Amino acid sequence: MSAPDSRFVRACKSLPVDRTPVWFMRQAGRYLPEYRAIRKLHSLLEICKAPRLAAEVTIAAAEILKVDAAIIFADLLLPLEVMDLPFHFSSHEGPVIEHPIRQRSDVARLRTDCAGDLAYVAEAVSTVAKHFGTKLPVIGFCGAPFTLASYMIEGGGSRHYLHTKKMMYAQPKDFDLLLEKLVLVASQYATQQVRAGADVIQVFDSWVGCLAVEDYRRYVLPRTRDLVKQLQQSGAPVIYFGTDTATLLEAMQETGAEVIGLDWRIPLDQGWEKLGNRGALQGNLDPVVLFADRRYLMSCAQAILDRAAGRDGHIFNLGHGILPETPVENVKALAAYVAEHSARSASVV
Ligand code: CP3
Repeated sequence: MSAPDSRFVRACKSLPVDRTPVWFMRQAGRYLPEYRAIRKLHSLLEICKAPRLAAEVTIAAAEILKVDAAIIFADLLLPLEVMDLPFHFSSHEGPVIEHPIRQRSDVARLRTDCAGDLAYVAEAVSTVAKHFGTKLPVIGFCGAPFTLASYMIEGGGSRHYLHTKKMMYAQPKDFDLLLEKLVLVASQYATQQVRAGADVIQVFDSWVGCLAVEDYRRYVLPRTRDLVKQLQQSGAPVIYFGTDTATLLEAMQETGAEVIGLDWRIPLDQGWEKLGNRGALQGNLDPVVLFADRRYLMSCAQAILDRAAGRDGHIFNLGHGILPETPVENVKALAAYVAEHSARSASVV
């Protein structure tokens, strides 16, 4: 842990802060010319696997935007490789898993003893943590078991999650074994990141919103809770993020995560109310609002700050990642706006 007293880490623990911390999912991505310049020379996986490059991209994004945390540059799917499930990125389809998991024998074959081979991510974390010292906290991350399993079973992105749900309903034991194996690998992987200096871990359950709440509770919550508990043993607070989760929020809170990441579909204060006004909340501007004009953008940002009403435990973010064509100047201006307009009055802190 490198910056335990930073406003971002304090907000994750619902402690008072001088102003609302802000960072953005996918803050290091194709919308940034500096990132595109490096991507011209290296593939996405080459950057992820070269700690010096991954650290450089991580640091550059945080410094250009002047945000309150740096998220390590990596990809959600890296653990698939060390489980012996190769994948590549296709320019039109996104990630493609070469041999999707469909049967018990496919699940049985997956390795769980090679998480150490992901040490290159921890090495990048360590470089970033040394660079920033106590000035800026570092966010490590991993996929949640459901979202990782959905890529493994579908073979890539999906619209209806047909194969994933089919396995969940028709082969519940195989599905559960898959989730159990993913928890084992993801917990070792994220714990390595904390040992290397990550202050907080974000667990991405990007596609969990496709589930009915009863199915989430029955097939997914128990393993996700296991993952969160194991990560918390490393000492780092956990942010648990998903999209389309308005109906799942109460159940997601039962994982025990300190922070719940909200998408834009539900107003922040209503989301908080669903959570019994307990714990911290991260979010939740629609990333497409960054394409609007400056005045409209800032009015939406202000509306979120108004809904948070200066309560402890709000971390400003988008409701999902920054999109590739996003105007960089708007992203910078948004970070500056939040920093400037969220100061607490002296009596509050
Ligand atoms: O936030 C950051 O700045 C850190 C970097 C980061 C990347 N991927 C790098 C990346 C993070 C946090 C991720 C997480 C990730 N990866 C998720 C969960 C987040 C979410 O959006 O819900 C998922 C689902 C993935 C899998 C993945 N990787 C997809 C679906 C894609 C898109 C494919 C495409 O062609 O756009 C990627 C590629 C990817 N990972 C990019 C980046 C910057 C963009 C592509 C590139 O540079 O070639």
